[in-house]
Amino acid sequence: MYKMDEVKAAPANSNAPSTPGARVEPAQDQKAAANAVRQMFSSIAPRYDLLNHVLSLNVDRYWWWRTARRFRYIVGRADASVLDLCCGTGDMTLALYRQAGPGGASIVGADFAHPMLCRATLKSAGLPIQWVEADALQMPFADGRFNLVTSAFGFRNLANYDAGLREIHRVLAADGEVAILDFGEPTGLTGKLYRFYFRRVLPAIGSMLSGTKGPYAYLPASVARFPKPQEMLSRMKAAGFRQVNYTPYTFGVAGVYWGKK
Ligand SMILES: C[S@@+](CC[C@H](N)C(=O)[O-])C[C@H]1O[C@@H](n2cnc3c(N)ncnc32)[C@H](O)[C@@H]1O
Repeated sequence: MYKMDEVKAAPANSNAPSTPGARVEPAQDQKAAANAVRQMFSSIAPRYDLLNHVLSLNVDRYWWWRTARRFRYIVGRADASVLDLCCGTGDMTLALYRQAGPGGASIVGADFAHPMLCRATLKSAGLPIQWVEADALQMPFADGRFNLVTSAFGFRNLANYDAGLREIHRVLAADGEVAILDFGEPTGLTGKLYRFYFRRVLPAIGSMLSGTKGPYAYLPASVARFPKPQEMLSRMKAAGFRQVNYTPYTFGVAGVYWGKK
């Protein structure tokens, strides 16, 4: 068991694991890393939404909306099935639902942190969204079940990115599409200012508001460890995706990776 204050991300320049994926010190292997991530998100669930909106200055809402709108042609189809993976408290899932409208796709949100899903359930009371407690690396869904899989700020936390991509590929129908929204690292002057905010200001405010140091020190380090766009696109191709591409949002602070099965 890890105490929350002991949970911090392995530094970006630490020995790279043989299989790229998130690592939370002192976790050594994939199983321990996944457990530490689950514990971390479970512990911040009650304040997660507030912190998200404060720390992103509410731009997170725009990023979810933009991603959902980009895939309206799938989400709006009554015969389509959409999975929002690592859905957390459900904001990306709800953005998808709003684009779907009545009579649109059936929507499933999946996450392995129970307290995050409890909040998603409360936020979506009365809406026909199905919430499933599941590990993204071993999903309880049949092959080819979904026409679209999204993941917002969740994929980066997986203990094995290639296994995560293969599992997403497995649950997608032929011609199904994937959209992975996550933080990026902007360059130039914006990059410098942003890095100062992301590495210094955000962990300080996040730790103060959440009352725990770990998660908000983990966040910038996990972004620094995440593959750069070209590498991520190569990994998507290797997992079997085609027509892969990356669209940066807001000067590259975030962006969406997308591709087709
Ligand atoms: C930063 S939150 C993002 C939540 C939400 N998608 C959003 O945009 O606010 C990351 C989520 O990924 C989930 N997660 C991380 N690894 C996972 C895994 N292996 N299986 C399922 N969920 C996972 C965590 O529990 C957490 O809820």
